[in-house]
Amino acid sequence: MLYLGHVVSVSIKKIDFLVYLAPPTITAGQTHQMSNVTEHAPFFDPNLFRPSEYTAMLIQQIRENGSAIKCKTTLEIGCGSGVVLAALAREGASRVCGVDIEADAISMSAQTLTDAGYLDVADLHRGDMWAMVPGRVFDVVVANLPQAPTENQEVDGRHLSWNFGGSSGRALLDKFLNGVAAHLAADGWGLITHFDPIDVAKTIEMLNASGLEAKVVMTRLLTYSQERLNALVPEVVASKVGKSIIFYGKHVFSEVHIVEFRRIGGMRA
Ligand SMILES: C[S@@+](CC[C@H](N)C(=O)[O-])C[C@H]1O[C@@H](n2cnc3c(N)ncnc32)[C@H](O)[C@@H]1O
Repeated sequence: MLYLGHVVSVSIKKIDFLVYLAPPTITAGQTHQMSNVTEHAPFFDPNLFRPSEYTAMLIQQIRENGSAIKCKTTLEIGCGSGVVLAALAREGASRVCGVDIEADAISMSAQTLTDAGYLDVADLHRGDMWAMVPGRVFDVVVANLPQAPTENQEVDGRHLSWNFGGSSGRALLDKFLNGVAAHLAADGWGLITHFDPIDVAKTIEMLNASGLEAKVVMTRLLTYSQERLNALVPEVVASKVGKSIIFYGKHVFSEVHIVEFRRIGGMRA
């Protein structure tokens, strides 16, 4: 089935980007105009944004932390289908803010939040990560970022931006880690998915260096398709075979973690 999103075009300080604003967040004085949605978010295939097993792990942790999400402001970087935003809203988040680089992800997120009945607590922004939330802080920040060590190969019929992590796999992850502390409230906390082969110890070190404590709270061995494996930088695969990339004949599995982080000394809700 094909969907059309409901996208509002906003121009602020000569920077043009797309933003979906649920009606309650549209306030007098802002410049809003309904755009021709086909200009920015043409018909799209919802299958492009089908949730993955990583998504399911993140949602499981969100569900297990419901009491620390209730009445909190939340942000997801890379909201894709919008299903993680819906999970945050279902746990009682006061607001869910989603950012994604793809226009059709914003349309898909708006559709998911509409279907789930949470559009009134949402604001959605199309653009590059932290640039879409300048100066804003959130109680809870979550992300399931692209983190395949791959140069330029689309896999599984997705957009390249779904998986692309550059040759180290860390291009988006490092950008996230370098910015997250500035967007966390004083007692803020968050969750990220983490493909093991791209060095979870380095991620924890980077979070610590930003004044955040961090730990792995969940690890799963997931299936990994040959198509995805073939798209990876061979050196990364070679260094992890038998460790966190496991072969049984032609069948491949890989380890994925959920990393939780919070301000050092931050209060647990
Ligand atoms: C692995 S998918 C996760 C989607 C969704 N959160 C989920 O768990 O199902 C990564 C998402 O990050 C988005 N993305 C990639 N680069 C981005 C960037 N620079 N800023 C914001 N979003 C980005 C992609 O478009 C994609 O929707």
